[in-house]
Amino acid sequence: MAPEHKLLASIRLLVLSAPVILIVSSIGVYEFSWRVKPQPFPFNHKLHAGTRQIDCKYCHRGTDKGSSAGVPSISDCWSCHQNLTGVGSNKEPVIERPNVQKLLKEYVEQKKEINWYKVYDMPEHVKFPHRAHINAGLQCVECHGKVEEMQVVKMNQVPHMGWCVSCHRAKNAPVDCTVCHY
Ligand code: HEC
Ligand code: HEC
Ligand code: HEC
Ligand code: HEC
Ligand code: HEC
Repeated sequence: MAPEHKLLASIRLLVLSAPVILIVSSIGVYEFSWRVKPQPFPFNHKLHAGTRQIDCKYCHRGTDKGSSAGVPSISDCWSCHQNLTGVGSNKEPVIERPNVQKLLKEYVEQKKEINWYKVYDMPEHVKFPHRAHINAGLQCVECHGKVEEMQVVKMNQVPHMGWCVSCHRAKNAPVDCTVCHY
């Protein structure tokens, strides 16, 4: 083949395979963003709520008080971690205490908060008051799964309308549209 023919052939190959490459790579990106979206800080539920048995409501104070569960602030993390000096007694942590402390201290000194991404994200038109559910005797595990066994929180149940309504029916909770929608 003459050089220009070779060039033409490879351009043709590229053009022909472009859609395939695009599809394959976008599947890759989609799968990736769906599966692992790293949090900005390596917070470990298994260690805090599992091994160390810190109560869910100690950190998610809004669950039985307000509407949203809320996520603890840096000052909450710091209130424990400023006293966790020394090296941990067991081998379980991936990050040693003094290093956690150092990382958290930077946030404290710069008055920054950790920008957690949300695992569960509800559309604006829906109201979901945690309090009503906790007061009705429901446990975190019924909706969120065994978070105390998760290093990284994974969505346990996509909170779609059918799921909400079928439990409301089963438990005689109201099902009027305006109960859940603004
Ligand atoms: C009630 C006390 C308490 C609070 C609040 C707390 N921690 Fe911890 N954290 C601990 C204990 C205890 C350990 C385990 C230390 C050990 O065994 O060495 C730990 C370990 C860690 C580790 C190491 C985990 C690993 O797998 O290596 C990180 C990172 C961490 N905490 C981040 C945070 C962040 C971020 C917050 C705030 C959102 C926070 N902690 C709030 C008590 C607390
Ligand atoms: C030491 C504090 C701490 C404790 C104890 C704790 N959490 Fe968390 N939780 C956090 C932090 C920080 C985040 C945000 C980072 C993340 O998603 O891991 C979070 C996130 C979550 C999320 C995801 C929220 C979202 O939509 O983004 C759920 C669900 C959750 N926690 C449930 C629980 C349950 C259930 C327990 C008890 C078994 C528990 N947590 C105990 C600190 C804590
Ligand atoms: C009836 C089901 C249900 C129960 C029970 C429940 N949750 Fe949730 N939780 C949800 C739904 C749905 C969302 C998403 C709500 C939203 O985005 O406004 C959510 C969001 C969260 C969030 C995200 C943070 C935020 O402020 O939006 C955290 C943290 C959380 N739940 C922790 C808990 C803890 C801890 C318990 C137990 C004390 C609990 N939840 C019990 C259904 C439940
Ligand atoms: C596992 C069962 C269950 C699931 C799932 C559930 N709920 Fe509920 N919900 C209840 C119960 C029980 C009550 C309390 C009813 C009462 O107090 O009479 C309640 C109460 C409520 C209330 C307050 C009603 C009032 O009295 O004002 C709202 C709003 C609500 N739920 C919205 C939702 C939404 C939105 C979802 C889905 C994202 C959802 N719920 C999922 C069981 C559930
Ligand atoms: C128990 C709570 C609950 C009740 C009752 C409820 N919804 Fe919803 N609805 C939701 C939640 C949660 C979503 C968002 C998740 C989803 O799209 O499935 C939603 C989403 C929707 C959407 C948007 C769907 C989309 O594709 O964006 C519409 C429209 C809607 N609801 C209408 C209604 C109407 C009409 C009623 C009364 C017949 C009603 N809902 C009753 C919880 C509820």
